[in-house]
Amino acid sequence: MRSMTNCRSTPSPPVSRGTRNPDNGSALIVHRTALVTGGASGIGLAVAHRLTADGLSVAIADLNEQTLAAAAGSFTSAHRLDVADSGAVEALIEDIGPVDVLVNSAGIVGPNMPVWDVDDDAWALTMAINVTGTFNTMRAVLPSMRERGWGRIVNIASIAGKEGNPNLAAYSASKAAVIGLTKSVGKETATDGVIVNAVAPAVISTPMNDDTEPETVDYMVSKIPMGRLGLPEEVAALVSWLSSDEVTFSTGHTYDISGGRATY
Ligand SMILES: NC(=O)c1ccc[n+]([C@@H]2O[C@H](COP(=O)([O-])OP(=O)(O)OC[C@H]3O[C@@H](n4cnc5c(N)ncnc54)[C@H](O)[C@@H]3O)[C@@H](O)[C@H]2O)c1
Repeated sequence: MRSMTNCRSTPSPPVSRGTRNPDNGSALIVHRTALVTGGASGIGLAVAHRLTADGLSVAIADLNEQTLAAAAGSFTSAHRLDVADSGAVEALIEDIGPVDVLVNSAGIVGPNMPVWDVDDDAWALTMAINVTGTFNTMRAVLPSMRERGWGRIVNIASIAGKEGNPNLAAYSASKAAVIGLTKSVGKETATDGVIVNAVAPAVISTPMNDDTEPETVDYMVSKIPMGRLGLPEEVAALVSWLSSDEVTFSTGHTYDISGGRATY
């Protein structure tokens, strides 16, 4: 059974992201499609708006029906999707057709407590959404990207995956896994025209942090040399570049967007 329901908006007129014909330098218009998971909120929503402004046809997919319905009108299509459900992911890709740019932004924080208090279900859910969800969508789009010889995938990891945040063991482990997954797949598709990278934001001002204790936010900001939270639009600008023709000699890498917090 397909767990997906569509909230389709009127398709936008096709606007195209231009690129140059490598043979003669003339303008060559290539119309590209993007799928943004977690696209109804926060970083995913900002990315979806940015890629639309870049000229792509953007489909968003999200578990949250309310925010999805609110955002749907701005994009080519909007789909209710649980990224952890591999059957639903396959069905969605079949439904929307070839995806040129995949951005995996769907994610949850998971249990916020010492690791010894984390229960099986909370651990498993964090892994299922953050890691398996990223795997599911990549596996679904890669055959067609490879066949067409062009694709860009950007996975939203986190600085937690590089440094490990206390009381966020499941989240940190899941984001480290996303970084490892990105490294592997980037190597697997390195000669296929399919470029796969991740970004590792520090704390960004999104609904994900709405329920975070102010002391925790202060602690996280205190670790950022720029002394402030990042903005979703700042992450979207980096994702826009990583989704473009401009990226030609970089794959399997995790890009920092942390206001100077990351030291490697
Ligand atoms: N906000 C930050 O400080 C921060 C920092 C580093 C990394 N990140 C990562 O950025 C990504 C986006 O986070 P955000 O801050 O925009 O949070 P957000 O909560 O605003 O957006 C996440 C979206 O993912 C959706 N989602 C959750 N589970 C899903 C599922 N199973 N299937 C489909 N969609 C699902 C939610 O409904 C939500 O719309 C996440 O992967 C997060 O881990 C966020």
